[in-house]
Amino acid sequence: MKKALVVYFSVYGTAKKTAEEIATQMGADLMEIEPVVSYDSNQDHYNALAKLAKQEHDSNARPAIKNEIPIADYDTIFVGYPMWWYTFPMILYTFFDKYDFSGKIIVPFNTHMGSGDGGTYRTIKELEPNATVLVGLPLEMSDAERGNAKAVSRWLEKLGLK
Ligand SMILES: Cc1cc2nc3c(=O)[nH]c(=O)nc-3n(C[C@H](O)[C@H](O)[C@H](O)COP(=O)(O)O)c2cc1C
Repeated sequence: MKKALVVYFSVYGTAKKTAEEIATQMGADLMEIEPVVSYDSNQDHYNALAKLAKQEHDSNARPAIKNEIPIADYDTIFVGYPMWWYTFPMILYTFFDKYDFSGKIIVPFNTHMGSGDGGTYRTIKELEPNATVLVGLPLEMSDAERGNAKAVSRWLEKLGLK
């Protein structure tokens, strides 16, 4: 089987940690979605990040991505992100606008503080109608920080990927 790719966007590191766990368990490659203008990862400055994220959301912004991600080289692509304002960060729209996922398998996962996936797995299906979107894994931030090996393992087994 061809290697899978795990792509993630993360500011506080929780989605990153989950992405690393998935990549380890899958023997997959790992890549970060890097914004051109980086976000402040200091959690003491949460209010400023919340304000910026809300502005981006309300203006339907498409924050630019700095790096190229070789989507075409993979058949199965895990895509992970935090919940921001009840949906995914707007840079995920940039990502899905930019790459063609026709014929690919997308496996979403996300971290959150109560919103679950907030309907984002359905949004991905709408944005990528020619891809197969598998059942995703929403992880509460505190659980994801404590360690998520078991939850990831159970999920991958259920999906028949492990
Ligand atoms: C700007 C912002 C908006 C957020 N909005 C939500 C939300 O609507 N629902 C929710 O459950 N969590 C929300 N959160 C909490 C994040 O989902 C949580 O901090 C996230 O899991 C952190 O992921 P990361 O460590 O990978 O950056 C928000 C956090 C930030 C910074």
